[in-house]
Amino acid sequence: MAHTHPLPRLLGSTVALKAAMAVSGLLLVGFLVGHMVGNLQVFGLFGGREAMNAYGAFLHSKPMLLWGARIGLLVMIAIHIGSAMTLIQRNQAARPIGYQMKKPIASTYASRTMRWSGPIITAYILYHLAHFTVAGVGIPGFPLKDAAQRVDVYQHVVNSFQSPLVSLLYVIAMGLLSMHLWHGLWSLFQSLGLSNSRWNALKRPMATGLTIFIIAGFMAVPLGVLFGIVK
Ligand code: HEM
Repeated sequence: MAHTHPLPRLLGSTVALKAAMAVSGLLLVGFLVGHMVGNLQVFGLFGGREAMNAYGAFLHSKPMLLWGARIGLLVMIAIHIGSAMTLIQRNQAARPIGYQMKKPIASTYASRTMRWSGPIITAYILYHLAHFTVAGVGIPGFPLKDAAQRVDVYQHVVNSFQSPLVSLLYVIAMGLLSMHLWHGLWSLFQSLGLSNSRWNALKRPMATGLTIFIIAGFMAVPLGVLFGIVK
């Protein structure tokens, strides 16, 4: 009989899958916060062009570190998507016909669209990598070099977002990410399992605050370039 050994049974349990989603989600949020704060360098907050290009050059001079981080991110994304798909299948298997009249009571728009916002974000990441990392899609002369002959990451960002179309695309992508993030963070706080009434009351405002912080930080970059604050 399948799954009689306790370890696979434990690993495949719904609780374990939810924990895997929560932990991988938490690490991905950690990456997002770091990436967002790093991007704010375009405003000259922590050294501007110099710091941004130096950081890019540093990462590329340490291939083990760079590829370790890339593989770590990919593994987290695979765990996140894999456990999500298994949980969705289980839900559907438990109710194969579906509700005849489905009127959500306790769920939010964001929570019901998780399975769509997930694939949309994956598509965004593929575009984003083609745009800035792999091929410089839409950046003439990619990869541009600065005076010190380093890849001019700062100029890539500025040149890209001077196009209103590219900026709009990013702002829309961040809007979709915000819904996924908002519900994901709330679920994460839920999965942490503390359910006393003070914690319960804090879960939504904490998810909302953290989502606004991350999304506003990301959106500031294309908007800053578009409105000529960053040149
Ligand atoms: C306005 C928002 C964003 C801007 C301006 C931005 C900018 C950049 C730039 C310039 C790079 C290339 C860095 C380099 O070549 O050294 C990059 C890489 C990357 N970004 Fe973003 N990013 C944004 C949002 C996001 C979001 C929301 C995600 C994830 C959902 C994301 C995920 C990544 C990943 C995975 C890499 C590749 C790192 C690598 O393997 O080299 N970015 N981003």
